[in-house]
Amino acid sequence: MQFPTYRPRRLRANETIRAMVRESSLDVKDLIYPLFVRYGTNVRQEVPSMPGVYNLSVDQLEAEAGELLGLGIPAVILFGIPETKDEAGSGAYAAEGIVQQALRELKAKAPELYLITDVCMCEYTSHGHCGILDDRGCVMNDVTLEMLAQTAVSHAEAGADMVAPSDMMDGRVAAIRSALDTEGFEMTPIMAYSAKFAGGFYGPFRDAAESAPAFGDRRSYQMDVGNGDEALRETALDIGEGADLVMVKPAMAFLDLVWRIKNEFGYPTAAYNVSGEYSMVKAAAANGWIDERSVVMDTLYSMKRAGADLILTYHAKDVARWLAE
Ligand code: PBG
Repeated sequence: MQFPTYRPRRLRANETIRAMVRESSLDVKDLIYPLFVRYGTNVRQEVPSMPGVYNLSVDQLEAEAGELLGLGIPAVILFGIPETKDEAGSGAYAAEGIVQQALRELKAKAPELYLITDVCMCEYTSHGHCGILDDRGCVMNDVTLEMLAQTAVSHAEAGADMVAPSDMMDGRVAAIRSALDTEGFEMTPIMAYSAKFAGGFYGPFRDAAESAPAFGDRRSYQMDVGNGDEALRETALDIGEGADLVMVKPAMAFLDLVWRIKNEFGYPTAAYNVSGEYSMVKAAAANGWIDERSVVMDTLYSMKRAGADLILTYHAKDVARWLAE
């Protein structure tokens, strides 16, 4: 097969034929929109480093859900910013915690919206780490597992359809699975942040969720960016412990792992197009340096091509509009 017998340009002549032979598809049903919920009333506060992304109070959620459903976006992942933080991150598993309140409101007002919750401690601890610290400031793994399990159960009780642990403690999926099963939530799926890397891409999120660590960094629990084989081992562990879906995060700089994990395990695989990826595009577009729509579609297609079934992205609303055109 060679030129001039084969001319690839024949199938690029117009959008009709390009769409007919396009190998990967991007559908609004693939998208999960992150939502940040905080205390107060009438709060709709834009995150400075994430233009177009807001912290919302619970009373704003019904309208937000209506907009998302109207756009065809099927699911959200909820993050909470508590009123007060403490060493034990007790706001994460409080029955009246902010995410728990948001879940009840959304279940009542927008029952068609699929509700996923991020299960982690960092938004709730006074030190901003993803677990409970020992007296040297090191995150204690097995003590934290109990808090995470309690958090997941409290989310399920408040109406979560799926829980997504993002803490990167060893053994968290097993701990959460067993606690959910014991409490009668054996049908609640777990989406594990399996290959979650430490690094610079979460900066704007920590701005949005007020969750930057007060000292040190997350390198003793999140993965080292130099590692790929380890991401497969992490994923194998999570699947072995009962994960129903697995995730790679961040997405853009880790597409090799989306590819490897999808091929190795054949599990539903999500890619998290994280805050730093979003802010880079927004900043460059605001300067007129890139065409936002084009760059966003390029990056989301790269995730689909790599094998992602689902994409968590702050661009979801725009993408839904573009796909509908
Ligand atoms: C909680 C959590 C984080 C993100 C998702 N869940 C922050 C972190 O690990 O520091 C980041 C999401 C984003 O950057 O968009 N641990």
